[in-house]
Amino acid sequence: MIEITLAQTQPDYILIEELADVIWRKHYIPITGIGQVEHMLKKYQSAEAISKQVEDEGFEYFILRYDKTPVGYISIRKEEDKLFLSKIYVLSEYRGKKIGKTAMQFIEEKAKAYGLKTIMLTVNKNNTNSIKAYEKLGFINVCALVKDIGNGYVMDDYQMEKKI
Ligand SMILES: CC(C)(COP(=O)(O)OP(=O)(O)OC[C@H]1O[C@@H](n2cnc3c(N)ncnc32)[C@H](O)[C@@H]1OP(=O)(O)O)[C@@H](O)C(=O)NCCC(=O)NCCS
Repeated sequence: MIEITLAQTQPDYILIEELADVIWRKHYIPITGIGQVEHMLKKYQSAEAISKQVEDEGFEYFILRYDKTPVGYISIRKEEDKLFLSKIYVLSEYRGKKIGKTAMQFIEEKAKAYGLKTIMLTVNKNNTNSIKAYEKLGFINVCALVKDIGNGYVMDDYQMEKKI
């Protein structure tokens, strides 16, 4: 059984920090190298950074549980005319069990509730498996974008969108 619950307490943010540390190191070190992963974990996925994103920047985080076990998380933000899907991460041993698909249905309901007709995300150009999953889930590649994230690192991404 898949459950999706709003993260709103410090223990929730610490749990997401721990999930991010495991998922990102395993998934992104082969793609971007350890230096960029550690920079991004500290800048975006520490409990402190998550708390600031929720309290000051309009992000909503949700924890994904599979049979009561925390297995991943998502983060969204309502933009002017789109819902920005900022994060969607599932532990590697739980992938392929429709957790991502269930999370995406939940995100679509959120977008509809906000009166939005488009979901937008960015994905590293070399994150091939996730791009394939997004295509299966109905997203299309709309453009490439490069974002400077400090310390000499850039995010070299595609922007993908889904109309709902
Ligand atoms: C992307 C991710 C969230 C998908 O979650 P998941 O629980 O594994 O996905 P699901 O089992 O719900 O699969 C959803 C659909 O994508 C397809 N899919 C998933 N992984 C795939 C892959 N590697 N190649 C092709 N299709 C894939 C599934 O077949 C399914 O399609 P279907 O419904 O037509 O059968 C998960 O794989 C993940 O955390 N990846 C690593 C982290 C990451 O890169 N996150 C995105 C950052 S931008």
